[in-house]
Amino acid sequence: MFEFCERIWINANLATFDPAVERPYGALFNQAVGVSDSRIQVIAPMETLDAARLPGKVTDARGGWLTPGLVDAHSHLVYAGSRAKEFEQRLLGASYEEIARQGGGILSTVRATREASVKQLVELSEPRLKALLAEGVTSVEIKSGYGLNVESELNMLRAARQLGERHPVRVSTSLLGAHALPPEFQDDADGYIDLVCNELIPAAVAEGLADAVDVFCETIAFSPAQCERVFQAAQQHGLGIRAHVEQLSNQQGAALAARYGAWSVDHLEWLDEAGVEALAAAGTVATLLPGAFYFLRDTKLPPIELLRKHRVPMAVATDLNPGSSPLASLRLAMNMACTLFRLTPEEALAGATRFGAQALGQAGEIGQLKVGMRADMLLWDIEHPAELAYQFGVNPIRQRIVDGEPSHA
Ligand code: NIG
Ligand code: FE
Repeated sequence: MFEFCERIWINANLATFDPAVERPYGALFNQAVGVSDSRIQVIAPMETLDAARLPGKVTDARGGWLTPGLVDAHSHLVYAGSRAKEFEQRLLGASYEEIARQGGGILSTVRATREASVKQLVELSEPRLKALLAEGVTSVEIKSGYGLNVESELNMLRAARQLGERHPVRVSTSLLGAHALPPEFQDDADGYIDLVCNELIPAAVAEGLADAVDVFCETIAFSPAQCERVFQAAQQHGLGIRAHVEQLSNQQGAALAARYGAWSVDHLEWLDEAGVEALAAAGTVATLLPGAFYFLRDTKLPPIELLRKHRVPMAVATDLNPGSSPLASLRLAMNMACTLFRLTPEEALAGATRFGAQALGQAGEIGQLKVGMRADMLLWDIEHPAELAYQFGVNPIRQRIVDGEPSHA
Protein backbone atom coordinates (compact mmCIF):
# COMPACT_ATOMS: atom_id res chain seq x y z
CA MET A 1 0.00 0.00 0.00
CA PHE A 2 2.97 2.34 0.41
CA GLU A 3 4.41 1.38 -2.98
CA PHE A 4 2.84 4.32 -4.83
CA CYS A 5 3.75 6.96 -2.26
CA GLU A 6 6.15 9.76 -3.09
CA ARG A 7 6.95 10.50 0.54
CA ILE A 8 6.56 8.52 3.73
CA TRP A 9 6.88 9.50 7.37
CA ILE A 10 7.69 6.62 9.72
CA ASN A 11 7.80 6.13 13.51
CA ALA A 12 5.32 8.96 14.09
CA ASN A 13 2.62 9.49 16.67
CA LEU A 14 -0.40 11.14 15.11
CA ALA A 15 -2.92 13.62 16.48
CA THR A 16 -5.35 12.92 13.64
CA PHE A 17 -8.45 14.78 14.85
CA ASP A 18 -10.31 12.21 12.79
CA PRO A 19 -13.63 11.76 14.65
CA ALA A 20 -13.58 8.07 13.71
CA VAL A 21 -10.54 7.59 15.98
CA GLU A 22 -12.26 7.62 19.33
CA ARG A 23 -9.37 8.70 21.48
CA PRO A 24 -8.27 12.11 22.77
CA TYR A 25 -6.72 14.06 19.86
CA GLY A 26 -7.72 11.15 17.60
CA ALA A 27 -4.31 9.81 18.61
CA LEU A 28 -2.65 6.92 16.79
CA PHE A 29 0.74 5.72 18.01
CA ASN A 30 3.80 4.50 16.12
CA GLN A 31 2.42 4.97 12.63
CA ALA A 32 3.58 5.51 9.08
CA VAL A 33 1.96 8.07 6.78
CA GLY A 34 2.27 7.85 3.00
CA VAL A 35 1.64 10.81 0.73
CA SER A 36 1.38 11.41 -2.99
CA ASP A 37 -0.44 13.78 -5.32
CA SER A 38 -0.59 16.29 -2.42
CA ARG A 39 -2.82 14.00 -0.38
CA ILE A 40 -2.55 11.48 2.42
CA GLN A 41 -2.80 8.07 0.74
CA VAL A 42 -2.24 5.69 3.62
CA ILE A 43 -1.91 5.65 7.40
CA ALA A 44 -0.77 2.35 8.94
CA PRO A 45 0.84 1.02 12.13
CA MET A 46 4.62 0.58 11.84
CA GLU A 47 4.41 -3.13 12.57
CA THR A 48 2.41 -3.71 9.37
CA LEU A 49 5.12 -2.45 7.05
CA ASP A 50 8.53 -3.65 6.02
CA ALA A 51 10.78 -0.63 6.64
CA ALA A 52 13.51 -2.06 4.44
CA ARG A 53 11.27 -2.09 1.36
CA LEU A 54 9.78 1.37 1.42
CA PRO A 55 9.82 3.31 -1.84
CA GLY A 56 9.84 7.09 -2.04
CA LYS A 57 11.49 9.57 0.28
CA VAL A 58 11.34 8.44 3.89
CA THR A 59 11.45 10.74 6.92
CA ASP A 60 11.99 9.11 10.31
CA ALA A 61 9.88 11.03 12.82
CA ARG A 62 11.74 9.19 15.64
CA GLY A 63 8.70 9.21 17.90
CA GLY A 64 7.77 12.84 17.25
CA TRP A 65 4.16 13.92 16.67
CA LEU A 66 2.45 14.70 13.39
CA THR A 67 -0.56 17.00 13.55
CA PRO A 68 -2.66 18.58 10.83
CA GLY A 69 -1.26 21.92 9.67
CA LEU A 70 -2.61 24.77 11.77
CA VAL A 71 -5.54 26.74 10.37
CA ASP A 72 -5.92 30.38 11.38
CA ALA A 73 -9.56 30.92 10.45
CA HIS A 74 -9.81 34.65 11.23
CA SER A 75 -7.24 37.30 10.41
CA HIS A 76 -7.07 40.87 9.17
CA LEU A 77 -3.38 40.59 8.40
CA VAL A 78 -3.40 42.77 5.28
CA TYR A 79 -3.33 46.44 6.33
CA ALA A 80 -1.12 49.50 6.41
CA GLY A 81 -0.27 51.82 9.29
CA SER A 82 -0.03 51.26 13.01
CA ARG A 83 -2.36 51.73 15.95
CA ALA A 84 0.32 51.86 18.65
CA LYS A 85 -0.80 55.39 19.60
CA GLU A 86 -4.31 54.13 20.26
CA PHE A 87 -2.86 51.50 22.51
CA GLU A 88 -1.34 54.36 24.49
CA GLN A 89 -4.67 56.25 24.49
CA ARG A 90 -6.43 53.19 25.81
CA LEU A 91 -3.86 52.83 28.55
CA LEU A 92 -4.61 56.43 29.50
CA GLY A 93 -8.29 55.59 29.84
CA ALA A 94 -10.07 55.83 26.46
CA SER A 95 -12.18 52.84 25.43
CA TYR A 96 -12.08 51.00 22.08
CA GLU A 97 -15.58 52.25 21.25
CA GLU A 98 -14.77 55.87 22.21
CA ILE A 99 -11.73 55.86 19.94
CA ALA A 100 -13.83 54.38 17.12
CA ARG A 101 -16.55 57.02 17.57
CA GLN A 102 -13.95 59.81 17.35
CA GLY A 103 -12.83 58.65 13.91
CA GLY A 104 -9.89 56.58 15.13
CA GLY A 105 -9.94 52.81 15.39
CA ILE A 106 -10.79 50.97 12.20
CA LEU A 107 -11.06 54.27 10.28
CA SER A 108 -7.47 55.21 11.08
CA THR A 109 -6.30 51.95 9.50
CA VAL A 110 -8.62 52.68 6.55
CA ARG A 111 -6.83 55.97 5.89
CA ALA A 112 -3.42 54.29 5.83
CA THR A 113 -4.62 51.30 3.80
CA ARG A 114 -6.26 53.41 1.10
CA GLU A 115 -2.92 55.10 0.48
CA ALA A 116 -1.03 51.85 -0.03
CA SER A 117 -0.57 50.07 -3.37
CA VAL A 118 -1.15 46.33 -3.67
CA LYS A 119 2.62 45.86 -3.73
CA GLN A 120 3.02 47.87 -0.54
CA LEU A 121 0.21 45.96 1.15
CA VAL A 122 1.93 42.69 0.28
CA GLU A 123 5.26 43.93 1.62
CA LEU A 124 3.77 45.32 4.82
CA SER A 125 1.80 42.13 5.47
CA GLU A 126 4.55 39.65 4.72
CA PRO A 127 6.28 39.78 8.13
CA ARG A 128 2.97 39.09 9.86
CA LEU A 129 2.22 36.17 7.56
CA LYS A 130 5.72 34.77 8.01
CA ALA A 131 5.33 34.87 11.78
CA LEU A 132 2.17 32.76 11.51
CA LEU A 133 3.78 30.32 9.08
CA ALA A 134 6.88 29.84 11.22
CA GLU A 135 4.66 28.57 14.02
CA GLY A 136 2.89 26.03 11.85
CA VAL A 137 0.04 27.80 10.09
CA THR A 138 -0.59 26.14 6.72
CA SER A 139 -3.99 27.76 6.02
CA VAL A 140 -5.00 31.31 6.84
CA GLU A 141 -8.12 33.32 6.27
CA ILE A 142 -7.49 36.96 5.33
CA LYS A 143 -10.19 39.63 5.31
CA SER A 144 -10.55 42.93 3.55
CA GLY A 145 -12.32 45.63 5.53
CA TYR A 146 -9.83 48.49 5.73
CA GLY A 147 -10.53 49.81 2.24
CA LEU A 148 -14.26 50.50 2.46
CA ASN A 149 -14.47 51.54 -1.17
CA VAL A 150 -14.46 49.31 -4.23
CA GLU A 151 -10.87 49.89 -5.32
CA SER A 152 -9.23 49.62 -1.91
CA GLU A 153 -11.26 46.60 -0.80
CA LEU A 154 -10.30 44.80 -4.01
CA ASN A 155 -6.66 45.82 -3.51
CA MET A 156 -6.65 44.22 -0.07
CA LEU A 157 -8.01 41.00 -1.52
CA ARG A 158 -5.52 41.11 -4.40
CA ALA A 159 -2.74 41.47 -1.84
CA ALA A 160 -4.14 38.50 0.10
CA ARG A 161 -4.23 36.35 -3.04
CA GLN A 162 -0.66 37.35 -3.90
CA LEU A 163 0.53 36.39 -0.44
CA GLY A 164 -0.94 32.95 -1.04
CA GLU A 165 0.88 32.66 -4.36
CA ARG A 166 4.24 33.70 -2.92
CA HIS A 167 4.26 31.63 0.25
CA PRO A 168 3.58 27.99 1.04
CA VAL A 169 0.19 28.55 2.62
CA ARG A 170 -3.44 28.26 1.60
CA VAL A 171 -5.13 31.64 1.74
CA SER A 172 -8.89 31.87 2.07
CA THR A 173 -10.30 35.35 1.53
CA SER A 174 -13.31 37.11 3.01
CA LEU A 175 -14.79 40.33 1.72
CA LEU A 176 -15.46 42.39 4.84
CA GLY A 177 -16.88 45.44 3.11
CA ALA A 178 -19.37 45.88 5.96
CA HIS A 179 -16.68 46.41 8.61
CA ALA A 180 -17.15 50.11 9.38
CA LEU A 181 -19.00 53.02 7.81
CA PRO A 182 -16.62 54.97 5.54
CA PRO A 183 -16.60 58.78 5.93
CA GLU A 184 -18.11 59.24 2.44
CA PHE A 185 -21.30 57.59 3.71
CA GLN A 186 -21.33 59.29 7.13
CA ASP A 187 -25.12 59.41 7.52
CA ASP A 188 -26.05 56.80 4.98
CA ALA A 189 -25.23 53.32 6.19
CA ASP A 190 -27.92 51.83 3.95
CA GLY A 191 -26.39 53.58 0.95
CA TYR A 192 -23.05 52.04 1.80
CA ILE A 193 -24.65 48.59 2.09
CA ASP A 194 -26.10 49.19 -1.40
CA LEU A 195 -22.54 49.72 -2.63
CA VAL A 196 -21.32 46.57 -0.88
CA CYS A 197 -24.13 44.44 -2.32
CA ASN A 198 -24.46 45.94 -5.80
CA GLU A 199 -20.88 46.89 -6.67
CA LEU A 200 -18.30 45.49 -4.31
CA ILE A 201 -19.46 41.88 -4.10
CA PRO A 202 -20.03 41.52 -7.88
CA ALA A 203 -16.62 43.10 -8.62
CA ALA A 204 -14.82 40.80 -6.18
CA VAL A 205 -16.63 37.77 -7.58
CA ALA A 206 -15.82 38.75 -11.16
CA GLU A 207 -12.10 38.73 -10.30
CA GLY A 208 -12.29 35.57 -8.19
CA LEU A 209 -11.05 37.51 -5.17
CA ALA A 210 -13.46 36.40 -2.44
CA ASP A 211 -14.29 33.00 -0.98
CA ALA A 212 -16.76 34.41 1.54
CA VAL A 213 -18.27 37.61 2.88
CA ASP A 214 -17.94 38.85 6.42
CA VAL A 215 -19.77 41.59 8.33
CA PHE A 216 -19.37 43.42 11.64
CA CYS A 217 -22.79 43.27 13.28
CA GLU A 218 -22.54 45.75 16.15
CA THR A 219 -23.86 49.07 17.43
CA ILE A 220 -20.66 50.80 16.25
CA ALA A 221 -20.88 49.06 12.87
CA PHE A 222 -23.90 47.55 11.03
CA SER A 223 -27.39 46.51 12.12
CA PRO A 224 -28.71 42.96 11.73
CA ALA A 225 -30.98 44.15 8.90
CA GLN A 226 -28.01 45.63 7.04
CA CYS A 227 -25.94 42.49 7.60
CA GLU A 228 -28.82 40.39 6.30
CA ARG A 229 -28.72 42.23 2.99
CA VAL A 230 -25.03 41.39 2.66
CA PHE A 231 -25.79 37.71 3.39
CA GLN A 232 -28.47 37.70 0.69
CA ALA A 233 -26.07 39.17 -1.86
CA ALA A 234 -23.44 36.62 -0.85
CA GLN A 235 -25.90 33.78 -1.34
CA GLN A 236 -26.80 35.04 -4.78
CA HIS A 237 -23.12 35.00 -5.74
CA GLY A 238 -22.35 31.62 -4.16
CA LEU A 239 -20.01 32.99 -1.51
CA GLY A 240 -19.56 31.56 1.98
CA ILE A 241 -20.84 33.56 4.94
CA ARG A 242 -19.07 34.52 8.15
CA ALA A 243 -19.75 37.26 10.66
CA HIS A 244 -18.31 39.24 13.57
CA VAL A 245 -21.15 39.02 16.06
CA GLU A 246 -21.90 39.49 19.75
CA GLN A 247 -18.46 40.98 20.42
CA LEU A 248 -19.40 44.15 22.31
CA SER A 249 -23.17 43.62 22.71
CA ASN A 250 -25.84 41.07 21.84
CA GLN A 251 -27.49 41.98 18.52
CA GLN A 252 -28.73 38.41 17.81
CA GLY A 253 -26.29 38.41 14.92
CA ALA A 254 -25.24 34.79 15.44
CA ALA A 255 -28.77 33.46 14.98
CA LEU A 256 -29.19 35.61 11.88
CA ALA A 257 -25.94 34.36 10.34
CA ALA A 258 -26.88 30.77 11.23
CA ARG A 259 -30.19 31.18 9.38
CA TYR A 260 -28.12 31.94 6.29
CA GLY A 261 -25.99 28.82 6.79
CA ALA A 262 -22.87 30.73 7.88
CA TRP A 263 -19.64 28.75 7.98
CA SER A 264 -18.60 30.60 11.10
CA VAL A 265 -19.58 33.31 13.55
CA ASP A 266 -16.77 34.95 15.44
CA HIS A 267 -16.04 36.65 18.82
CA LEU A 268 -19.31 35.72 20.63
CA GLU A 269 -18.66 37.11 24.10
CA TRP A 270 -22.33 38.22 24.35
CA LEU A 271 -23.84 35.13 22.71
CA ASP A 272 -26.89 33.76 24.56
CA GLU A 273 -28.37 30.26 24.67
CA ALA A 274 -30.87 30.93 21.86
CA GLY A 275 -27.94 31.96 19.69
CA VAL A 276 -26.00 28.84 20.67
CA GLU A 277 -28.99 26.68 19.74
CA ALA A 278 -29.24 28.38 16.36
CA LEU A 279 -25.56 27.62 15.70
CA ALA A 280 -26.04 23.98 16.70
CA ALA A 281 -29.04 23.62 14.40
CA ALA A 282 -27.22 25.15 11.43
CA GLY A 283 -23.85 23.43 11.94
CA THR A 284 -22.15 26.83 12.15
CA VAL A 285 -18.73 26.98 13.82
CA ALA A 286 -18.18 29.30 16.81
CA THR A 287 -14.80 30.93 16.25
CA LEU A 288 -13.23 32.15 19.47
CA LEU A 289 -10.80 35.05 19.40
CA PRO A 290 -9.09 35.24 22.79
CA GLY A 291 -6.48 37.68 21.46
CA ALA A 292 -9.12 40.42 21.10
CA PHE A 293 -10.64 39.54 24.48
CA TYR A 294 -7.20 39.86 26.06
CA PHE A 295 -6.08 42.99 24.22
CA LEU A 296 -9.34 44.89 24.85
CA ARG A 297 -9.26 43.69 28.48
CA ASP A 298 -12.74 42.28 28.06
CA THR A 299 -14.35 40.69 31.08
CA LYS A 300 -17.40 39.09 29.48
CA LEU A 301 -16.52 35.50 28.64
CA PRO A 302 -17.98 33.68 25.64
CA PRO A 303 -20.46 30.99 26.78
CA ILE A 304 -18.09 28.03 26.48
CA GLU A 305 -20.21 25.72 28.65
CA LEU A 306 -23.29 26.35 26.49
CA LEU A 307 -21.29 25.77 23.31
CA ARG A 308 -20.10 22.46 24.74
CA LYS A 309 -23.58 21.52 25.93
CA HIS A 310 -25.05 22.04 22.46
CA ARG A 311 -22.00 20.50 20.74
CA VAL A 312 -21.20 23.55 18.67
CA PRO A 313 -17.75 23.14 17.08
CA MET A 314 -15.32 25.74 18.41
CA ALA A 315 -12.49 27.15 16.31
CA VAL A 316 -9.66 29.23 17.77
CA ALA A 317 -8.05 31.97 15.67
CA THR A 318 -5.74 34.96 16.08
CA ASP A 319 -7.97 37.78 14.76
CA LEU A 320 -4.59 39.28 13.81
CA ASN A 321 -5.39 42.99 13.27
CA PRO A 322 -3.89 46.35 14.24
CA GLY A 323 -6.62 47.48 16.63
CA SER A 324 -8.05 44.76 18.79
CA SER A 325 -5.63 41.86 18.42
CA PRO A 326 -2.11 42.57 17.19
CA LEU A 327 -1.32 38.90 17.65
CA ALA A 328 0.68 37.01 15.03
CA SER A 329 0.79 33.76 16.98
CA LEU A 330 -1.86 31.06 16.69
CA ARG A 331 -0.01 29.05 19.34
CA LEU A 332 -0.42 31.92 21.80
CA ALA A 333 -4.09 32.25 20.80
CA MET A 334 -4.46 28.55 21.68
CA ASN A 335 -2.84 29.14 25.04
CA MET A 336 -5.12 32.12 25.69
CA ALA A 337 -8.14 30.03 24.72
CA CYS A 338 -7.13 27.70 27.55
CA THR A 339 -6.09 30.22 30.19
CA LEU A 340 -8.76 32.85 29.52
CA PHE A 341 -11.69 30.81 28.14
CA ARG A 342 -10.91 27.51 29.90
CA LEU A 343 -10.75 25.37 26.79
CA THR A 344 -8.81 22.16 27.21
CA PRO A 345 -5.55 21.86 25.25
CA GLU A 346 -7.28 19.27 23.08
CA GLU A 347 -10.16 21.65 22.33
CA ALA A 348 -7.69 24.43 21.55
CA LEU A 349 -5.73 22.27 19.09
CA ALA A 350 -8.95 20.93 17.52
CA GLY A 351 -10.01 24.58 17.18
CA ALA A 352 -6.81 25.41 15.30
CA THR A 353 -7.07 22.36 13.01
CA ARG A 354 -10.29 20.44 12.41
CA PHE A 355 -12.74 23.15 13.39
CA GLY A 356 -10.65 25.96 11.89
CA ALA A 357 -10.95 24.06 8.62
CA GLN A 358 -14.72 23.75 9.08
CA ALA A 359 -14.93 27.49 9.77
CA LEU A 360 -13.43 28.01 6.31
CA GLY A 361 -15.88 25.63 4.64
CA GLN A 362 -13.01 23.18 4.03
CA ALA A 363 -13.76 20.37 6.45
CA GLY A 364 -13.36 17.74 3.73
CA GLU A 365 -9.95 18.98 2.59
CA ILE A 366 -7.81 20.07 5.53
CA GLY A 367 -7.67 20.00 9.32
CA GLN A 368 -7.42 16.23 9.89
CA LEU A 369 -4.84 13.51 9.27
CA LYS A 370 -6.96 11.10 7.31
CA VAL A 371 -6.70 9.27 4.01
CA GLY A 372 -7.88 11.55 1.19
CA MET A 373 -7.14 14.81 2.98
CA ARG A 374 -4.59 17.33 1.74
CA ALA A 375 -1.17 16.46 3.16
CA ASP A 376 -0.73 19.63 5.22
CA MET A 377 1.10 18.38 8.30
CA LEU A 378 3.46 19.47 11.04
CA LEU A 379 6.12 17.31 12.62
CA TRP A 380 6.75 18.42 16.18
CA ASP A 381 9.47 17.54 18.67
CA ILE A 382 7.06 17.09 21.55
CA GLU A 383 6.17 14.32 23.97
CA HIS A 384 2.45 15.05 23.97
CA PRO A 385 0.14 17.28 21.86
CA ALA A 386 -1.06 19.14 24.98
CA GLU A 387 2.32 20.90 24.84
CA LEU A 388 1.18 22.90 21.83
CA ALA A 389 -1.34 24.91 23.85
CA TYR A 390 0.64 24.76 27.08
CA GLN A 391 3.89 26.39 26.12
CA PHE A 392 4.48 29.57 24.15
CA GLY A 393 7.54 31.48 22.97
CA VAL A 394 9.36 28.31 21.97
CA ASN A 395 8.75 26.62 18.67
CA PRO A 396 9.10 22.84 18.63
CA ILE A 397 8.39 22.45 14.89
CA ARG A 398 10.79 20.06 13.18
CA GLN A 399 9.12 20.04 9.79
CA ARG A 400 6.34 21.93 8.09
CA ILE A 401 4.64 20.09 5.22
CA VAL A 402 2.23 21.65 2.71
CA ASP A 403 0.63 19.56 -0.03
CA GLY A 404 2.98 16.75 0.94
CA GLU A 405 6.11 18.85 0.40
CA PRO A 406 8.39 19.88 3.25
CA SER A 407 8.45 23.66 3.15
CA HIS A 408 9.94 26.46 5.14
CA ALA A 409 7.97 29.49 6.13
O1 NIG B 1 -12.11 41.43 14.74
N1 NIG B 1 -14.49 43.54 15.35
C1 NIG B 1 -14.17 44.11 14.34
N2 NIG B 1 -13.02 44.03 13.67
C2 NIG B 1 -11.77 43.67 14.21
C3 NIG B 1 -11.09 44.85 14.79
C4 NIG B 1 -10.57 45.70 13.76
C5 NIG B 1 -9.80 46.86 14.23
O2 NIG B 1 -9.95 47.37 15.36
O3 NIG B 1 -9.01 47.31 13.39
C6 NIG B 1 -11.89 42.54 15.20
O4 NIG B 1 -11.75 42.70 16.41
FE1 FE C 1 -11.95 40.30 13.24
